[in-house]
Amino acid sequence: MEHQENTREGLKQIAVNGAMEWIRENFDLHNNLKIGVGSGSTVAYSFSRIAKHRNLTAIPTSSTTREELKKQGVDIEEFGESEEPLAFDLDGADEVDPRLNLIKGGGGCHYREKLVAKRSRVLLIVVDQTKLVNFLGQTFPLPVEVKPKNIKSTRKRLRQYGEPVLRSTEGELFKTDNGNVIFDLQLQGQLSQTELEEWEPRINDIEGVVENGFFVNRNADRVFVGTEGGLKVLEPEEHE
Ligand code: A5P
Repeated sequence: MEHQENTREGLKQIAVNGAMEWIRENFDLHNNLKIGVGSGSTVAYSFSRIAKHRNLTAIPTSSTTREELKKQGVDIEEFGESEEPLAFDLDGADEVDPRLNLIKGGGGCHYREKLVAKRSRVLLIVVDQTKLVNFLGQTFPLPVEVKPKNIKSTRKRLRQYGEPVLRSTEGELFKTDNGNVIFDLQLQGQLSQTELEEWEPRINDIEGVVENGFFVNRNADRVFVGTEGGLKVLEPEEHE
């Protein structure tokens, strides 16, 4: 694949190339593997590569990913059709902290993304260097998917965690694949690891919340980062 060196798109491609190479070395892609395929502009660079392996069956995490993979002739298992473990899941992220905890949901797909990630034996994340942060919430709000009928009460209860901003695009209320809305929760300051682990289920306990974008209790197993200096691979044990 040609890199657009030193552009953001080039860095995304470096990450995907690194992940695909690691996948080839660690999995027999001639086997009939089931894999998770995530959402967003970074993981999208993997679609044509995945399509070359005709034995793979993909479980897509969004309608966009599903359509793109289908166009390229990839076999699809519909979301929710089975609970069978997946060999690996390849996805993007909005933030990655040093422990490989993630914030996801910039595209509003984190509900399916988290279910697919939990089903997967290995969660592989592809990002460019701008996604690396010292702590979650540093540069990106936490997306929280909420049922439309609960907007008012949920907004009130989310305020104990940060400032919730209802997501809209071009003046229209943003709707997820599930027909729900997203609050982008502006977190204040740095949360400890214990707080992150507790907040992830606690926010989901609020009535009307469908899922939040913390991937802490199921964090990444490996993160492939496209940097200006080339590929960087992060594993959890490498972090203090
Ligand atoms: C989708 O809801 C997200 O979790 C994406 O995986 C995330 O926003 C990364 O997207 P990009 O690769 O486009 O930055």
